[in-house]
Amino acid sequence: MKRRTFLGSLSASAFLVGTSSFSLGQAAVKRLTMQPLLDARSAGQVRLEALKGQTGFVGSSGTNTWGFNQPFLGPTLRMPTGRSTQVDVYNSLDETISVHWHGLLVPGVVDGGPHQPIAPGKTWSPELAITQPAATAWYHSHAHGATARQVQLGLAGVLQIDDGQDDARGLPSEYGVDDLTLVLQDRRFTRGGDFDLSPSMPDRMMGFLGDTILINGQVGSSAVVPKGLVRLRLLNGSNARIYTLALSDDRPMHLVATDSGYLDKPIQLSKLLISPGERFEVLVDFSNERDVTLTSEHNPNIGMMGGMMGGQRQQSGRFTVLPFTVDTTLPVRITKLPDDLGGTRPNGNAANANWRRLSLDMPMGMGMMFGRSDSMFSINGDAFAMDRINFRVTQGAFERWTVSADMMMHPFHVHGAKFQVLSENGRAPRPQNTGWKDTVLVNGAVDLLIRFDQPAPANAPYMYHCHILEHEDAGMMGQFTVG
Ligand code: C2O
Ligand code: CU
Ligand code: CU
Repeated sequence: MKRRTFLGSLSASAFLVGTSSFSLGQAAVKRLTMQPLLDARSAGQVRLEALKGQTGFVGSSGTNTWGFNQPFLGPTLRMPTGRSTQVDVYNSLDETISVHWHGLLVPGVVDGGPHQPIAPGKTWSPELAITQPAATAWYHSHAHGATARQVQLGLAGVLQIDDGQDDARGLPSEYGVDDLTLVLQDRRFTRGGDFDLSPSMPDRMMGFLGDTILINGQVGSSAVVPKGLVRLRLLNGSNARIYTLALSDDRPMHLVATDSGYLDKPIQLSKLLISPGERFEVLVDFSNERDVTLTSEHNPNIGMMGGMMGGQRQQSGRFTVLPFTVDTTLPVRITKLPDDLGGTRPNGNAANANWRRLSLDMPMGMGMMFGRSDSMFSINGDAFAMDRINFRVTQGAFERWTVSADMMMHPFHVHGAKFQVLSENGRAPRPQNTGWKDTVLVNGAVDLLIRFDQPAPANAPYMYHCHILEHEDAGMMGQFTVG
């Protein structure tokens, strides 16, 4: 029998990724908790209240934070596929927000983008009819021009679409025990203990990078797991940080699901790249009872400007994302890797698709280094404008989108559909991108095959954008109708 205490065994400084003077000291290592599970499957209804609170991340100083139903972040929503869930979102904050269901294939009118603002004191009650396969999605603020700040403050949570079949699939499914939902974020703190929300010039150019890793809104926590197979539902909820995940003893991760649902069978990976907005579900085997740490390489998004920006943007080596401790007293449920996950891998044909090219631009010139950033970011030269529909898509027809990014990597996301990655830089997609996706990291050019089955009228269009939230807010976003 092996039991651990979770206090004081690790220096919390292991969780710092940057070089800032802010220090955590020798804070005790705590057991990681999940967000509360808000299960809509029986009631068919859930309520979210956006509110202000205080959260103690480090030391004793409280950090001013926002959350849904709690001081920071939101509950994990579980919604059934094949039925409707009504969500009542009440905004008790004193500024306008919105709540977008990232990954839900729902009509534009309930999508929660910038055209569905929720004013202070108001309630928004979309009816979410979910017909898509089981998947790990998420929800977050998408308020016009304020997404980066509102998400950093805490307006984000996980949304699990559930079909009740995980036991039949042989997948770990006990929430917080062998089925862990992990939200990866990074933050910086001011000397007063608040989130540092004033983006530096490098943050505005390349996206915010924090020096402290938060998992489920917790700093310096350790996950306690049973021996056997454990499922990690990973969401990169960071504004801009890209993680290159690997386990410290190089044991494999078995990929079972991507953004929009299950694969047909697991794919063994030694490294997993996860960019903002993406979700991946992996199984990790703890049957050898050995503790292990989930680590990441430093942010690879150096881009052409990285040399000028310097600092933590060029660090090498690895840092701690989350240590795992095996508790052999916990019941072991799943020990065998499932061989049939019941999902599909997209296998479409772009021959008759309508072809669009989307270039995620960052115009060159010295002016951009010193000027305001809000006209520098665009797609095909157009910065986002609330009153401009960039194009129109025919409902139910295949589209091939070639998305390119040359100056730096951009995670590209589309609302209202899932897509197939046909190719990356002319080659077959990386294994981790062979499942259904709604967000993909573009480093060069990707070819996507996509079809929109839900309507999005001109007063409630879908968005497509870079999921580096500073880029999105600054104009690297467009909108389109489906009809
Ligand atoms: Cu995750 Cu348009 O958003
Ligand atoms: Cu989305
Ligand atoms: Cu970007």
